[in-house]
Amino acid sequence: MKKGPFEEPPRVAIVVRKPHFGDFEDLPKNWAMNNRLTTFSHGIFSIIITEGERFFIRTVNVFKRQIDGPELVRDVGLFVGQEAQHTQHHEKFNAALRRFGFNVDRIEKNTRRVMRLLEKCLSKKAALAVTVFLEHLTTMLAETGYRFPAFRTEWHRPARDFWAWHGVEELEHKSVAFDVYQHVGGGYLTRVSIAVLMLGLFLVLPWVLIGAWIRFGRIEPAVPATTLGMKLKAHPGLRWGPIKFFLRYLFAYFKPRFHPSDNDSRVHIEAWLSEIAVPLERHP
Ligand SMILES: [Fe+2]
Ligand SMILES: [Fe+2]
Repeated sequence: MKKGPFEEPPRVAIVVRKPHFGDFEDLPKNWAMNNRLTTFSHGIFSIIITEGERFFIRTVNVFKRQIDGPELVRDVGLFVGQEAQHTQHHEKFNAALRRFGFNVDRIEKNTRRVMRLLEKCLSKKAALAVTVFLEHLTTMLAETGYRFPAFRTEWHRPARDFWAWHGVEELEHKSVAFDVYQHVGGGYLTRVSIAVLMLGLFLVLPWVLIGAWIRFGRIEPAVPATTLGMKLKAHPGLRWGPIKFFLRYLFAYFKPRFHPSDNDSRVHIEAWLSEIAVPLERHP
């Protein structure tokens, strides 16, 4: 839905939920589309994002005392509440991934090192700009999950419900870090320079993934080389539709007047919530 020139951005209620996933005892080995490679890439993402969300909480919380608007103070509390729940449940999900040969500790340790290094080298405002950019990317992934059904309909429960719940809450709180950044005087140049820096850092990701895949294959021969091409072709993130969507979404971030609520996510949130089968207890 396009906003008119004087229209307020749509406000979305942020709700902290306590889902009942248990310890993911029933998680099947190839929970994403029965495809070992899709399962592998999303498993790695789960491990990285667990540490990333701790970073998001720290970089937003550091400005808590400088926020004076009651609405933003409330939203920051809800943002922290949601991200803390995500971290908790991702830890349980990652523990289940250990059963399938994921080297969780090593990936976690390396991600933690990168995040700590960023905090050490950057100013507090620039570190917050990292969170703002990464929150834009998590929102993009959540929207992709909604718009391209292969990302959700072909996934086994409870993984499908788990990612849908996380996606819904990312859409709900997508503006919070950005609003805090603007509130404390964060500017356009820092925001886009940090985005370029992060995109540069992501260039190492394919090598990390290849390394992790080789080690993963050593523990358990995951996919014979002859079928790897087929698995790659079946990966929903490597299709032209989602790639086009990613690029459009990414470039929108570089507009000087960009705001996360430029895209109205309310319809996605409602549709996704209606698909989730596990009970979602409201918290508190
Ligand atoms: Fe999250
Ligand atoms: Fe988030």
